[in-house]
Amino acid sequence: MVVHGWEPFNVEPPPAALADAPLTPVEAFYSRNHGPVPSTDRDTWRLAVTGLVDRRLALSLSDLRRGFTTCTLAVTLQCAGNRRAGMTAIREIPGEDPWRDGATSTAEWTGVRLADVLGAARPTERAAHVAFEAADVSQLAEPPQPYGGSIPFAKAMGPEVLLAWAMNGRPLPAVHGGPLRVVVPGFIGARSVKWVRRVTVQAEPSDNYFQAVAYRLLPPGTDPDRAGPSDGLPLGPIALNCAILCPADGATVPSGRTMVRGYALAGEHRRVIRVDLSADGGASWQQANLAPPAGAYTWQLWHTDVMLPPGVDPELVARAWDDTGALQPESAAALWNPKGYANNSWPRAAIHTLSET
Ligand code: MTE
Repeated sequence: MVVHGWEPFNVEPPPAALADAPLTPVEAFYSRNHGPVPSTDRDTWRLAVTGLVDRRLALSLSDLRRGFTTCTLAVTLQCAGNRRAGMTAIREIPGEDPWRDGATSTAEWTGVRLADVLGAARPTERAAHVAFEAADVSQLAEPPQPYGGSIPFAKAMGPEVLLAWAMNGRPLPAVHGGPLRVVVPGFIGARSVKWVRRVTVQAEPSDNYFQAVAYRLLPPGTDPDRAGPSDGLPLGPIALNCAILCPADGATVPSGRTMVRGYALAGEHRRVIRVDLSADGGASWQQANLAPPAGAYTWQLWHTDVMLPPGVDPELVARAWDDTGALQPESAAALWNPKGYANNSWPRAAIHTLSET
């Protein structure tokens, strides 16, 4: 893994590790943390469901297993900072890790539907948002506080949002939120709160630092250290994106026929329908082969063969289209923002070719 930091623990897999299979092995799944991994105990873990509900709940893991229908769903998680390195290359982004394409991974998550648990708590008519609070305390927050966030009530009631205790058929590892985490398909990874211990139905979005201040799209001229709760736009649903995984940016490969592989991921309620690849910096394009997705909320892997002529160091460029006919934006410069979030511009990979003798 490529380590961005040990404490908090922030790692992403080398790009090629994502290219082989639609499900990412747990060992290769990226991890993004804002504080220390808390020590937890499965046997005494309780989830409180509170706020604008007629019936408050305190549920153990076995209450969740026995009281609600268990379901398994393949979901891709993507951090809002995925591909920040492409923005850092344009202008410095102090204090933020330069994630490449690997802050995106896919797993099969097993748990219960958040909607079923909320249904048991009987939300009142004023329910508009569902907030999550976790067990880890982040010293990076201002002031230091438990990690948290929220999603709109309508999203929380969707059948795809899970309270998960297993990942790829194994108990959820501590670093990925075990014993219990939220999985919010289609939304930035920040909303998939790990070590969740409180779910609050409320009229307003969460005032937690990671919802109200961080993970917001600030205008380019803003100083993020002075930004307050109402500045910029809160990030929720993820945008159409793709990545070139293999050969990766900076790789040296023999000239001749080369297979190029990557992933593409559509936003909320959308599907990727086409990925194009250029081996000449965008002067000409060919369509890649798209693998079927493992589920409605997963990436699609793609591949295509290109001819890399000897003596030329090509620039590979990819671009994805969704089923509304929308195309990714071309330039990262146009998307640049002070925290380096949501870079979904066309990915580019500079390749060095070796002439075969
Ligand atoms: N939940 C808690 N409690 N603490 C965190 O630091 N990080 C969030 C989210 N949930 C975080 C959290 C972010 S920004 C992302 S991208 C995902 O968890 C990463 O999940 P992973 O570490 O399982 O890949």
